[in-house]
Amino acid sequence: MNLFDVYSLFDVTPVRAKGCTVWDDKGQEYLDLYGGHAVISVGHSHPYYVQALKDQLDKIGFYSNSVRNPLQEELARRLGEVSGYGCYSLFLDNSGAESNENAVKLASFQTNRDRVIAFRRSFHGRTSGAVALTDNPAIISPFNKYHKVTFCDLNDGNAVADELAKGGVAAVIIEGIQGCGGIHVPNAGFLQMLSRLCDRYGAALILDEVQSGYGRTGKFFAHQWAGIRPDIITLGKGIANGFPCGGILIAPKFQARKGMLGTTFGGNYLACAGAIAVLDIIEQEHLVENALEVGEYIKANLPACPRIKEVRGKGLMLGIEFNEPVAPLRQALLYDKHIFTGVAGKNMIRLLAPLCLTKAEADRFLEAFNEVLAQ
Ligand SMILES: Cc1ncc(COP(=O)(O)O)c(C=O)c1O
Repeated sequence: MNLFDVYSLFDVTPVRAKGCTVWDDKGQEYLDLYGGHAVISVGHSHPYYVQALKDQLDKIGFYSNSVRNPLQEELARRLGEVSGYGCYSLFLDNSGAESNENAVKLASFQTNRDRVIAFRRSFHGRTSGAVALTDNPAIISPFNKYHKVTFCDLNDGNAVADELAKGGVAAVIIEGIQGCGGIHVPNAGFLQMLSRLCDRYGAALILDEVQSGYGRTGKFFAHQWAGIRPDIITLGKGIANGFPCGGILIAPKFQARKGMLGTTFGGNYLACAGAIAVLDIIEQEHLVENALEVGEYIKANLPACPRIKEVRGKGLMLGIEFNEPVAPLRQALLYDKHIFTGVAGKNMIRLLAPLCLTKAEADRFLEAFNEVLAQ
């Protein structure tokens, strides 16, 4: 059987990794400023995280959501403490897309409405509802088209107000910082206006923190820079450092009903053990603070180069936008300098390093980046 050929692959086969370093099958070492697409939060194969998963697997790997699982309660308690959302509830699932599906479903149940407002350049995942909320027609099939979604421009509060006034809106969904759409940061004033508007019209404000959350921007959630408290916050990626896991944080005003949401694998023992270990490491190693410090260090030390149009983002969620396609630059970084980076669109290098990136590693990137720009 062949693999269904949907991914464009680099000619690299990683076999081992530690911290922000990855080794391939030929023993070549790489510096990882991509974190497996923002998934590696506390660093590859962190010994504390590895031990937590091994220990858990020795005890019990899986049962279903029909029995008590104290690890889910421990994770909810720890996540509440670390994030500042102790009075919210946690529902655990398996991925970012599933978290967004659950968030929108919950908002729709609560309001008995079916319209959702999303934003241009958004990315919320690939499942039916999540992809309908994503501003990319190329990945929306005819089957996905029937959801009632209206796209507004980011930072255009009046457009959102007009749409909400038309009625029937269950939720407004927005990324803490738009990732795949090109590192666009919503204005604090705009987020505050969304929060007020959602309250006024009885719609749920959903913050998609799948990519921007878990400390990446220097606050636990990116929206905390704006001082707002959304109704639902969606999680994925860094939550368990690569063990598949997602979840939603739900404001106290939402009433749970048996059977309202559900999943087979969500909240399983291994995912919870991984996720608890991640929170322990984030706290013990001050990784939220580190993400801000090292991210801002990179930003401040990027070369002043006329080929660079703009640098956007916060902490370790950075986009370097060029006036030209970046594919050759990214290839040179990977194959000549052995540094993994990401992209957003054709003209942007996107950096999503593990939160434990050191200044010395940042310097290695900056030096290589300068050299590649000079080629
Ligand atoms: C902001 C955002 N939301 C949702 C998703 C979807 O997450 P997943 O691929 O885990 O379904 C992504 C993935 O890149 C994302 O960046």
